[in-house]
Amino acid sequence: MVAIIQDVSEMQRAAESLRTAGKRIGIVPTMGYLHEGHLSLIRTAKHHADVVVTTIFVNPKQFGPAEDYERYPRDLSNDSLLASSAGTDYIFAPESKSMYPNEYLTDVHIERYSSILEGRSRPGHFQGVATVVTKLLNITKPHVAVFGQKDAQQAVVIRQMLRDLNYDIELVIAPTVREADGLALSSRNSYLSTEERKQAPVLFQSLNLAEQRVREGVRVSVRIINEMSEFITNRSAGVIDYISIADSNTLEELSAIEGQRSVLISLAVRFGATRLIDNQIVKV
Ligand code: PAF
Repeated sequence: MVAIIQDVSEMQRAAESLRTAGKRIGIVPTMGYLHEGHLSLIRTAKHHADVVVTTIFVNPKQFGPAEDYERYPRDLSNDSLLASSAGTDYIFAPESKSMYPNEYLTDVHIERYSSILEGRSRPGHFQGVATVVTKLLNITKPHVAVFGQKDAQQAVVIRQMLRDLNYDIELVIAPTVREADGLALSSRNSYLSTEERKQAPVLFQSLNLAEQRVREGVRVSVRIINEMSEFITNRSAGVIDYISIADSNTLEELSAIEGQRSVLISLAVRFGATRLIDNQIVKV
């Protein structure tokens, strides 16, 4: 049976006892409304740890004022069943006021990565992510933390933060889980209308097209980006926020693919009010 903890101190005490008992703790941070993508992260954590803590917290700090914090889907009872079936031992699901009480003043800011790509479109987002992840790590005291490749920039930001702040925590990045038609699983897919859902696989298809062009030897980024952009606009009503080809380690955008061993091709596309992201690491 999964134990659900909402209180910060209680979670810290539970984590401390597990450590004292010699258990290796794995954390899977989520915002809930769990789907198969999250469950695969939990299963991955189970391979790397004795005890898995799944955190469920819709973090207000990582949403911009015009974003979907209020309407973000929430379903703790179903999440508990799903997380438990995938092997979670503890769910940590705090209330917003216990994470950010009135007197709360501290933020974690990571230079550079916070203001490019997703960060450019979503100012303050990665500061919110870094802040809450820092808090969740301090509360659950894990030996290993599992995140998804679907949020590629988040993975880079967290890796940098763990290194810079000397966290003694292993980071595992698990592959993106997709629907049969290629759409990356996301809690936000639930916002899509039937027609938008039909069109949404263009993100994945355009990434495949880009990968094919890289394999064919195309090296000028703008050529690939224009082709992806045309592909998406010809086949869907999606409005492109950005398409980027970047160094997969530094996230530096590349005008030409030269000397990199792998590149991160990423994009964000809006379908109505729903913003979807996806990415692919392409070996050169
Ligand atoms: O990836 C997410 O769901 C969130 O950004 C995270 C890491 C749980 C922080 O709120």
